[in-house]
Formats: sequence, C-alpha cells, structure tokens
Amino acid sequence: MSARLGVNIDHVATLRQARGESYPSLVEAARVCLENGADQITIHLREDRRHIQDPDVGAIKLVTQRYGRPLNLELATSNDILQLAKEVKPDWVCFVPEKREERTTEGGLDLASDENFKKIRSSIDFIRKNSPKTKISLFVESDETTMRRVIECDIDAVEIHTGDYAKNFLDEESIEQYLEGYQKAFNLLKKHSIGFHAGHGLTSESVMPLVKQGLFEEYNIGHAIICESIFEGLGQCVKKYKKCIEG
Ligand code: PXP
Repeated sequence: MSARLGVNIDHVATLRQARGESYPSLVEAARVCLENGADQITIHLREDRRHIQDPDVGAIKLVTQRYGRPLNLELATSNDILQLAKEVKPDWVCFVPEKREERTTEGGLDLASDENFKKIRSSIDFIRKNSPKTKISLFVESDETTMRRVIECDIDAVEIHTGDYAKNFLDEESIEQYLEGYQKAFNLLKKHSIGFHAGHGLTSESVMPLVKQGLFEEYNIGHAIICESIFEGLGQCVKKYKKCIEG
C-alpha cells in the first residue's frame, strides 16, 4: 500500500495573518488539497496563534469530514489547546514541542526529561479520556533513547522529525546515518505496533530516498508544497490580472 500524504496548510494561514484579512481561505486551501488527492490535512495550533486560529480548527474539520479524510492537529500540551482538542475531536493529534522564539518546530519532543515525559503522558491520558476516537502521535527524533521512551506511551504512531535529514539532503551532505537511524527505530516500534510517520522540511526531492526505503506510512509536508505552488500558479495569475486591467 502506498504511503499517505498529509498536507500542512499552516503556511496559507501565515499569509492570511500577515495582512490580518480573511483571505486566503483556509477552508478553500483544505478543499483544494483534498480535491487533488491529499490523504489528510495537518494544522498546528501554536500557543502564540501566529498562523492557525482557534475557529480554523473546527472549520477545517468540517471540510475533512466532508471528504472522509483525517484532520491531524499538531499541538503542545498547554491547557487551552487541549481543551480545544477535546471540543473539536480531531481524527489525530500530534504532540510537538513548542518554543515561542522558534521560527518553526525545531526538533522532536524531549522525552529524556522526566518532567516533559510526565506532561506528555498526562496529555495523552487527557485525549484518550475526552476524545477516545482520536489517534495520537508524538513528534520525535529517531534515536534509541527516545524510541525506548516512546514505547512506554499509549500512542498510535510517531512522527519522526525529518528536518535535519532534509537539510543534509539539500546541502548534498550524507544522509546515510539518518536512513540507518530510521531503520533501527522502525524495527523497534514495529514490535509494538506503533505507526511510523515522517514530517518536517521535506521536498519532492528529499522525500524520494525515504519513499524508496519504504518505512514511513505517512508524510506530512507543508512549506515546500506551498512554496512550489506559488510558481505553479503565479504565471496564470499575472495573465488574469493583465487581462483585467486591459479591460
Ligand atoms: N510535521 C510537524 C510536526 C511540523 O511541526 C511541521 C511544520 O509545521 C510539519 C510536519 C511540516 O513541515 P514543513 O512545513 O517543513 O513541510
């Protein structure tokens, strides 16, 4: 079976928030992605609400529901966001670390810290109790220490942070150590029936060695898709505006 593509549409919201307007529409972005084969819509409700806003979550859930495909909500463990997840009941939640000063999620969850680990486990329990149909994943690095911690959690999948792998690929540095790490992590998690997802920094080129390796069942990709779609559409759009002003 081929892997699933989750399209992360946060970057459409970034464009909307830059102007404080109601467009571009997130609902329309989700619809276009689903209409063109996306298997899932992924959004990250950040603590500072820099892109996705609270009402977007329910609105996008209605679109994914209409297409019978999952909404994957990335979230930190803060109480207000957990409450919103309890209300909206996304099909998936993916717990991610969050620092306000970062430009994007810069790495996987730190499960070596007992304090973090406790917080994650209690947030997992909260979702299990208040939204029992929601599946749960953790955004993590693929190292062995993290994997050993992961198997102590009541989760359905991990999403492996591929940001460093993707950067190495882009810089034409070796990627072998990442591929080996993914294989080891996969072998361990398979025994525990924990799903294996990937996300962050991937492009249509850097995803290919991972697809060839065949371990990941799901890829969550956003920035590259939105960036490339500018050039897929910019020419057409300029033609349209030129026609308008020529009357
Ligand atoms: N998965 C997670 C957990 C993320 O935080 C992000 C970025 O929001 C993505 C996937 C998508 O990454 P990118 O936008 O770099 O493709």
